[in-house]
Amino acid sequence: MRFFIAFTSLISIVLALPNPAARAEIDPNTCTALAKNVGNYHYQNFGGCNAMIRDCVSTFKAEGNATHNPWGSNSCVAAATCWGAGSLRDYLQCQDSTFDPSSAPTLDYTNVYAPIVGDCAWQEGGCPITFQNYVDFIYRTTSDLGSSGYPSSTETLRNYYWSYVINWTTSGETVPYTNFNDFLFYSRT
Ligand SMILES: *[C@@H]1O[C@H](CO)[C@@H](O)[C@H](O)[C@H]1NC(C)=O
Ligand SMILES: *[C@@H]1O[C@H](CO)[C@@H](O)[C@H](O)[C@H]1NC(C)=O
Repeated sequence: MRFFIAFTSLISIVLALPNPAARAEIDPNTCTALAKNVGNYHYQNFGGCNAMIRDCVSTFKAEGNATHNPWGSNSCVAAATCWGAGSLRDYLQCQDSTFDPSSAPTLDYTNVYAPIVGDCAWQEGGCPITFQNYVDFIYRTTSDLGSSGYPSSTETLRNYYWSYVINWTTSGETVPYTNFNDFLFYSRT
């Protein structure tokens, strides 16, 4: 955990430096490879994930170039867990090369995080995301998008999706807001 904090602080420091090269242009080959693998995550996929990515991209494009806020969208946040946050960040950069993922607004607490965890979001100190919260979020988002492409089972979600989130955040069986936000910004799982 100490390593994790030091590591993310280091990233923040590096990103804070006025280095114009920090926002690398996305490699066109990366974009081609991603376009062929939309929604495929360690040999897993489900239709709802593709629907999330499609909706995320169309919201992203509709925002124009100046105001991108992927982590204010349920679709983008859900997609980051079912395709990998690194793939999704890169793919969004492929749509708009001026987008700098490290400068995106942090995860929207009111409109995205609180609906995931429920009323305890507003208790002092908030509360972390449980596996059951995650399952509900993925099913709700799939349904909201009018997709019938649900994951094959909740155990699939646990073993092939949630497992990457909790192993990366190293916060135990549940994931607090800050750790989940870090997952969205920095993980490549
Ligand atoms: C957004 O940026 C891309 C290049 O990254 C450009 O092709 C596109 O025209 C821009 N869109 C708007 C609405 O400015
Ligand atoms: C997460 O860590 C557990 C315990 O080490 C391991 O069994 C599991 O396979 C890991 N999951 C992934 C997706 O790497």
